Amino acid sequence: MNFELKTFDLSGAANEKCDALIVLLGSSFKPGKDVLSVMAAQAFKAGDLESAPGKPGKPLVLYRLAGVACSRAVLASVGDGSAKEVRQAVAAAVAAVKSTQVKKLVLCFATLPQEDAVRAAVMAVAEASYVFTTTKSKPEGRAIQRVIVGLPSAPKFKPVFDQVVAAVAGMEFAKEWANRPANHATPTLLAGAARSLAKLPHIKCEVLGPKEVAKLEMGSFMAVAQGSEEPLRFIVLRYDGTVKSEAPTVLVGKGITFDSGGISIKPAAEMDEMKFDMSGAASVLGVFRALAELKPAINVIGLIPSCENLLNGRAVKPGDVVTSMSGQTIEILNTDAEGRLVLCDALTYAERFKPRAVVDIATLTGACVVALGAVRSGLFCANEELAAALLTAGDTSLDLCWRMPLDDDYAEGLKSNFADVANVGGRAGGAITAAKFLQRFTGKFPWAHLDIAGTAWKSGAAKGATGRPVALLLEYLLTSAK
Ligand code: BES
Ligand code: MN
Ligand code: ZN
Repeated sequence: MNFELKTFDLSGAANEKCDALIVLLGSSFKPGKDVLSVMAAQAFKAGDLESAPGKPGKPLVLYRLAGVACSRAVLASVGDGSAKEVRQAVAAAVAAVKSTQVKKLVLCFATLPQEDAVRAAVMAVAEASYVFTTTKSKPEGRAIQRVIVGLPSAPKFKPVFDQVVAAVAGMEFAKEWANRPANHATPTLLAGAARSLAKLPHIKCEVLGPKEVAKLEMGSFMAVAQGSEEPLRFIVLRYDGTVKSEAPTVLVGKGITFDSGGISIKPAAEMDEMKFDMSGAASVLGVFRALAELKPAINVIGLIPSCENLLNGRAVKPGDVVTSMSGQTIEILNTDAEGRLVLCDALTYAERFKPRAVVDIATLTGACVVALGAVRSGLFCANEELAAALLTAGDTSLDLCWRMPLDDDYAEGLKSNFADVANVGGRAGGAITAAKFLQRFTGKFPWAHLDIAGTAWKSGAAKGATGRPVALLLEYLLTSAK
């Protein structure tokens, strides 16, 4: 999908040739004499468009309006123009014209929006028109190919527009890989996706296999991988946007391409959803995709430990003790707590880059889904500055997170009689004990952990990946560049 930014008012919008025209009307809208204004004013007056703030209401679809070049015009009220209302209104308006052959869409703000409303609008068009086709035999892709966003004054919005367009491309890259079933997204195929990114500007990719990983003594990562016939991959991506002397930010993404639980096997219901267990990895790939487009003057490293968590005759067993790359021994009491086992070795590997910060992204715990649901990702961070930067980035990019505690008392349950640490505590505070486990491997750099188990995908009828938290991470990285 191609996005363009243009300056026009409602009379300009009426002249645009396209397949559908969406007009966003805020409660501060002052109608002019042009045909769209007149229609909108009448519709508000008749009560056919909601005008109260906080109530975006239903879009009004008009067909072959005299004086409007586009055959389908959709009037959509956006209340007081908040990001949330714009998002809802655009989603509903796109849905209203989605069934038709709409290839070129014009989205026009009748009143000057806030920056976050522009972000929301672009994200909502992408979201509402997204279709996954890779594993359909007769793919019917998205109809919308071109989207023109019209504003009363475009130049001022160019930076935020470019950023959200890149974020959307990154989110869709992440969605593609997260949505793929595990047999179409093995660790090897995921590494191929990372390698394909290395064709883009400033990006390099290196992929380590079982031999190299054994040489690095990543005993914890290898323990998870040993229950599957699929060989593990350790993916190292670099985005070099500035001088080598500039310390990089390292992103570490959990890349479990399927999580059966291992010997501590999961129940059958909804086990298919564990194909999304590489959403953290997918978000890292998505961020690199966006960086290549925006080319900011920063350095970023992406690390993805990727394998399947399956069970065969060689699979790791509850009670097994393994030695991590850090030298710490781990008693694996539950093989389903595998995310932390692959991440801890990647975190140790991150030390060699002398990073300014390390952020890991993982669908780590069901407990985080219980705590925060699908609205906010869990943020765990003992560094005040880094925590504040990530929280702000979440707010700005409309990709929210929420800070969780890291008190040492939460680590009590991780004590082991047979190793330096156990891989699980009790059930209580499960998202936090998981973070406490990871924290043991992060002494050498400022570190944050994002638990995206609740936010990376949707269950139910709309089952599918969300592309989160690509927008949050991108915003954080771009802000760090300023
Ligand atoms: N990938 C899961 C976490 C998960 C569960 C994400 C449900 C989304 C929905 C992770 O590997 C896992 O299985 N975690 C266990 C940890 C437990 C054994 C301590 C969990 O949350 O149940
Ligand atoms: Mn698991
Ligand atoms: Zn998992």
